[in-house]
Amino acid sequence: MVDIVEDELFKSSIIKDVSYLDFDYIPKELPHRGPQLQMLARLFKPTLSNVSQNGVLIGPVGTGKTVIAKTFCPKLVNAARSKNIFIEYVHINCRKRSTDAMALLGILNHFDPRFPDRGFSVQEMLEVLRKQLIRRNAQLFVVFDEADALLKKSGSDLIYDLTRFSDEQSENKTPISLLLISQKPVFDLMDEAALSTFKRSNLINLGKYVRDELFDIVRQRVQLAFPPGIVEEDSIDLIADIAEEWGDARFAIELLWKAGVAADNRHEQSINPEHVRAAKAETFSIVTETKLRNLERHQLLTLQAIAKRLKNDGTAYVNTGDAEKTYGLVCEEHDETPRAHTMFWHYLKDIENAGFITLKKSGKGQLGTTQLISLPDIPAEIVQGKVNELL
Ligand SMILES: Nc1ncnc2c1ncn2[C@@H]1O[C@H](COP(=O)(O)OP(=O)(O)O)[C@@H](O)[C@H]1O
Ligand SMILES: [Mg+2]
Repeated sequence: MVDIVEDELFKSSIIKDVSYLDFDYIPKELPHRGPQLQMLARLFKPTLSNVSQNGVLIGPVGTGKTVIAKTFCPKLVNAARSKNIFIEYVHINCRKRSTDAMALLGILNHFDPRFPDRGFSVQEMLEVLRKQLIRRNAQLFVVFDEADALLKKSGSDLIYDLTRFSDEQSENKTPISLLLISQKPVFDLMDEAALSTFKRSNLINLGKYVRDELFDIVRQRVQLAFPPGIVEEDSIDLIADIAEEWGDARFAIELLWKAGVAADNRHEQSINPEHVRAAKAETFSIVTETKLRNLERHQLLTLQAIAKRLKNDGTAYVNTGDAEKTYGLVCEEHDETPRAHTMFWHYLKDIENAGFITLKKSGKGQLGTTQLISLPDIPAEIVQGKVNELL
C-alpha cells in the first residue's frame, strides 16, 4: 500500500533547492540595494578607527531592511578584522525582545548563551556587557531590528545607555555602535536624552520596490532555486506586476515559491502564469493578515469604517467625508474616542501606504480635499471580519 505521507515527502519537485526561497536566506548580491549598502559603509566607516557610530534604516515591510543589515554587518566585521579590530555583531529582533531587559539579554546571550534569563537588573547586565567587551577587546555593533517595538514598550533608555557607554569607554577602545531598523520613524519615539546622543542625520530611507526591481529580485531567486527553463519569463513578469502594488520583495518571493508548489500539485514541469495566479489567490490572505497585524488601533478603526461603508452602500468608492463620519461611529462601537480630523487623514495615508486602500481625487467638482477611497483587492466583508478579530 502507498503511504500518503511518505509519498508526499518523497515526491519530486520542480523546485531544485527551496532553501533559496526561504526568508532567512541571504543572497550574495542584493539587486537595487547597492547604494544603500554603500551609504551604510560610509556611515559606519569610523568604527574601523574605533569610533562608534549610529544610524537608522527606515522603510516599509519587505524593502530589504533586515537583509541589508545582515549583509552589511558581517562585511564590516570582516573588514575590521583585517585591521585587527574586533567587532561583535548582534542582531536583535525587538518584536521578540521588546523590553530593555530582554533586548539586553539577547546581547549577553551572544557572548554567553547560558547567561541566566532572570536575576539581573538592566544596570547589572550593562556591567556584565562592559566586562565582556573589555575582556575581548572588542567593539559591539547592535542592530535593533523593528526598533519601534522596543521604543514603544520601554522607551529609549537602553539606546541612551548604550550610546553613552561608548563615551565612557573611549580609552578602552570598546565602543558600541547602533543601527536602528524600523518601518516607521523612530525619532519621535525617543526622549530628549537619547536624541542628544543620537545622530539624526544618519538616516537611510528605503522606498518600496518598483516593478522592475521586483522583477530582478525574483529573477535572482529563479536562477538559484530552479533548474534553467522551468520558470517562464511571463511568470516572472506577472509576479512583479502583482507584487508592485505592495512594493514588497517578501511577497514577490513568496509568490514564486507558492507558484512552484502549485505547479508541483498539478504535476506540471514548468511554472506558467496560471500557477502564479493560483499562488496569488493563496498568498494574498497570508500577507493581508500579517499587514493587518502591523496596523495600530486607530488605523484599524479607519479601515473598518471604510469596509463597513463600502459593504453597506454597495459602492466601489466612499468619499473621505463619509468615511470619517463612519469612523466616528466605529470608534463609538469600540469605546474609543475618535481622533481629530488631521489624525484621521494620517490614518488614511497609513493604510494607503500599507496597500489596503487607494485614494484618488474625486474630480466631480467637489470642494476641498475630498477624495474617493476604494478597496481594490479584498472583499469588504473579509476586511470587516479580520479587523474585528484584531480590535
Ligand atoms: N534587494 C534584494 N535582493 C534580493 N532579495 C531581497 C532584496 N530585498 C529584499 N529581499 C528579500 O525579500 C525578503 C524580505 O526582505 P527583508 O529584508 O526581510 O525586508 P524588511 O526587513 O524590510 O521587511 C527577504 O527574503 C529578503 O532576502
Ligand atoms: Mg525586517
